[in-house]
Amino acid sequence: MTGLAPTPQTRQAASLQKVGGSIKFLGIDVGTGGTRALIIDGDEHKDEHGRVVASGTEEHVPFASPQLGWAEQNPNDWWRACGLAVRRALDASGTRGDEIACVGFSGQMHGAVLLDAHDEVVRPALIWCDQRTEPQVRELTDLFGTDRLIQLTCNPPLTNFTLTKLLWVRENEPRNWERVSHVMLPKDYVRFQLTGERAIDMADASGTLLLDVAKRQWSSEVLSRTGIDQQLLPALWESPEVCGRVSARGGEATGLSAGTPVVAGAGDQAAGAVGMGIVRPGTVSATIGTSGVVFAATGVPALDPKGGIHTFCHAIPGRWHVMGVTQAAGLSLRWFRDRFGAGAAASNSDSDSTDGRNGNDGGDLYARLCEEAATAPPGCDGVFWAPYLMGERTPHCDPHARAALVGLTATHTRAHVIRAILEGVAFSLRDTFTIFGELNVPVERIRLGGGGARSPLWRQIQADVYGQAVEVVQTEEGAAYGAAILAGVGAGNWRSVDEACDAVVHTAHRIQPDPKNSAILNEAYRTYRRIYPALRQISNRVSAESGAQPAAVSVS
Ligand code: XUL
Repeated sequence: MTGLAPTPQTRQAASLQKVGGSIKFLGIDVGTGGTRALIIDGDEHKDEHGRVVASGTEEHVPFASPQLGWAEQNPNDWWRACGLAVRRALDASGTRGDEIACVGFSGQMHGAVLLDAHDEVVRPALIWCDQRTEPQVRELTDLFGTDRLIQLTCNPPLTNFTLTKLLWVRENEPRNWERVSHVMLPKDYVRFQLTGERAIDMADASGTLLLDVAKRQWSSEVLSRTGIDQQLLPALWESPEVCGRVSARGGEATGLSAGTPVVAGAGDQAAGAVGMGIVRPGTVSATIGTSGVVFAATGVPALDPKGGIHTFCHAIPGRWHVMGVTQAAGLSLRWFRDRFGAGAAASNSDSDSTDGRNGNDGGDLYARLCEEAATAPPGCDGVFWAPYLMGERTPHCDPHARAALVGLTATHTRAHVIRAILEGVAFSLRDTFTIFGELNVPVERIRLGGGGARSPLWRQIQADVYGQAVEVVQTEEGAAYGAAILAGVGAGNWRSVDEACDAVVHTAHRIQPDPKNSAILNEAYRTYRRIYPALRQISNRVSAESGAQPAAVSVS
């Protein structure tokens, strides 16, 4: 195995560094659109632990799409953005580098960063939303059979997963492949630049299709049968473990102190879940950003034999999670806003953020759309939205699925259509809850995240569609917050991720389902479930005739 060989010593928590009475932790989220650095306070005596001290962001160069469906980014641009984002967070709060007791990472998952023997980037990284690897998915299915792959890795082959990208490069760019000495995921490349260590956490490694997710080790069978050398892969760590320290060079680039411990962190979904307190079995989040994710913490790896949901390691030793993904959740509303306008009084906005967190947010425009939607009744007088603007992952695993507005008559209004979009996205997320039910995944507490948690109407629709109370947390700061919490656990500020989440994550509101509306939407969901099978043949035909692969889109 390459990289830092894990020893019992290096696996111990870092000794806590307390400067001038305060303890701070830094989370760095290497996203698709940009990198975000977030500093939190770990000082329990001031009763402010978990408080966000400051954040800094830097956008990435948008991903390149040299061919339809391809999505590539330059790893060095992530490292550039990391340096700027961390400096901005330090400067914004007047925090010195030596006040940061520990650093945690989160990041976009599934990407393939390829380095040569001199640690130079061999080619641009194929990132998570790249869709070119359908042939490699078929090859893997032929080689193993889907059932065997699910037994080995807990997941079916999907174009998103890293292994398919490695096979694509090997088959299509043999000269590049010959040069590859190291494979990494995006945040792990940035960590490598910061520390010089090649490391990966179990949660992010789960999305490679190379990990035996149940045993939390690289799968020797998948590696040997696909001819991928384990020497190419980084060392595996649990998320809160210290896996390296900031190097002198890393310190110069970021303003952090050389020697600062760095924990393994987690892929963005698991880190985001930690930030929302989704850590114990029974806790579930439903997050509507551009995409939508329903995420449940589990005590054992829950396998979906149909492969409609992902089963990954959680960012907590000895825990797993399952998650279902709606490709175009907030994106559905953004698509409506961009194509049909936000309503009479709306001004132009070039924001593409549906979570309202990045940049000049279009929050007002989304609020206006939701106000309009509220004038239509639950169930939209029979109008339905099937949100497959980008194909679909859960439950259909169909890159050729197409979106549809169903049930329109001359009496329906814009308000019906907008409300149908909000309801259709919630129905699509409910599909994941339906699978959780089939797999006996407990759902005791649902927390909402992303833009879907900020709209009162969308919150209520979700409570009504899921038929269960939903909660909104006080501080919803996404994956960077979870990464900072993991850093705090690695530094020994909290004894466990559970303890950290109990201390810093608090419920702000609880929304109960309305029994009458819930009954209407329950009935509507039954009709919604029939739309995809009814339209599948038409979608496949339209997709084949237009020769269109689903476009890669920036989803966070
Ligand atoms: C998870 C996933 C996304 C990416 C991009 O499976 O594809 O969360 O990590 O953020």
